[in-house]
Amino acid sequence: MTTSCYDTIILGAGAAGLMCAATAGQRGRRVLLIDHAEAIGKKILISGGGRCNFTNLHTAADRYLSANLHFAKSALGRYSAADFIALVDRHGIAWHEKTLGQLFCDGSAKQIVAMLQDECDRGGVEIALGAAISDVAHGDGQYRVTFGTRSASAPALVIATGGPSIPQMGATGFAYDLARRFGLKVVEPRPALVPLTLGGEETLFRALSGVAAEVVARVGKTRFREAALFTHKGLSGPAILQISSYWRHGEPVAIDFLPALKPGWLVAAKHARPRVSLASALSNHLPGRLAETLADRLGIEGELGAATDKAVEAAARQLADWAFTPNGTEGFAKAEVTAGGISTAELSSQTMEARKVPGLYAIGEAVDVTGWLGGYNFQWAWASGWAAGMVV
Ligand code: FDA
Repeated sequence: MTTSCYDTIILGAGAAGLMCAATAGQRGRRVLLIDHAEAIGKKILISGGGRCNFTNLHTAADRYLSANLHFAKSALGRYSAADFIALVDRHGIAWHEKTLGQLFCDGSAKQIVAMLQDECDRGGVEIALGAAISDVAHGDGQYRVTFGTRSASAPALVIATGGPSIPQMGATGFAYDLARRFGLKVVEPRPALVPLTLGGEETLFRALSGVAAEVVARVGKTRFREAALFTHKGLSGPAILQISSYWRHGEPVAIDFLPALKPGWLVAAKHARPRVSLASALSNHLPGRLAETLADRLGIEGELGAATDKAVEAAARQLADWAFTPNGTEGFAKAEVTAGGISTAELSSQTMEARKVPGLYAIGEAVDVTGWLGGYNFQWAWASGWAAGMVV
């Protein structure tokens, strides 16, 4: 088997790998980008409901989870949402802000993939698809990768194979295995931005499958005010996906079902209309089925006027801080991202190079940096890919 020589080999043609390859290629580096899938950017294509929520205007390091909350600052600061928007604009891709700073293509996520392919072409990047990587060796300052029937070597190797979320799309834990082989620590990977499941007594809420409401979901001091959706397995919707990234097994998740209402509202409602039932008072603010289920659980029967102010206040307090203890999540099969990953303590925040393994880099979701829902994960992929692409 003959070995072809490059300046840089990048493993994984997803968001981060494509950005890194285009950046390095356009700097004049000879780049080989390898992926076992038959096509590039498959997760980009399914992202944002097919419209790719490609960045967020409010990108900042405090919107990411990581063992080192400062790690992402450098790359995010040097390659910002504005930089990616400028790239999208140069390619004439129309976009809009949907909500909360989330930017989506007006047309299709295919445009983002085509843009990245074009940027790689401009950098003369060679892309090898559909070939499994059978070996990665390191010696004499060179990384040698065997894939399919070929082999290639380069002084720089970039791990950009993402995390194991949505394995049915070809996602793997390859990045972690490779990192461990080179002696890098991996922060225990776990599903994030994932629906939560309910068991035991709380299965009663499954009857609400399909009902959605704007809530505040809270774990500890972290809270998100967005929509929650009851599912036949438990809870989903943006507020729940967001909080799931912070949730650990055994912990409760608290829901404020009426975040727009001030304390004392229910007692005031009782005095204004004493003949109404709790369910009917709640149904002014919540979907009917949810109002009825919550009212049943709160145990105030009959007319509100018949209950004491103290009992009504207690009910309002519970509605504002309703604790569920999920029995799990829907796992990597349904997780939008993987939290955890290659430890940031092993990497330079400037270049993404492993401190103790010269020439080895890790970028994107493979690294222990996980964004909120809303374009933050792609922005990390672009920024970390760019940071490595500027030096490899
Ligand atoms: P990514 O997973 O994109 O790429 C990794 C590449 O490595 C893949 O091409 C894969 O085939 C390849 N690979 C894996 N194992 C390999 C192996 N053993 N050998 C060779 N190649 C291998 N984020 C966001 O900001 N906005 C959004 O709208 C969405 N929407 C969204 C929807 C859905 C359904 C999912 C699952 C995820 C999102 N995300 C998102 C998250 C976003 O897709 C994710 O964070 C980025 O794609 C991560 O980019 P990477 O390049 O790091 O990994």
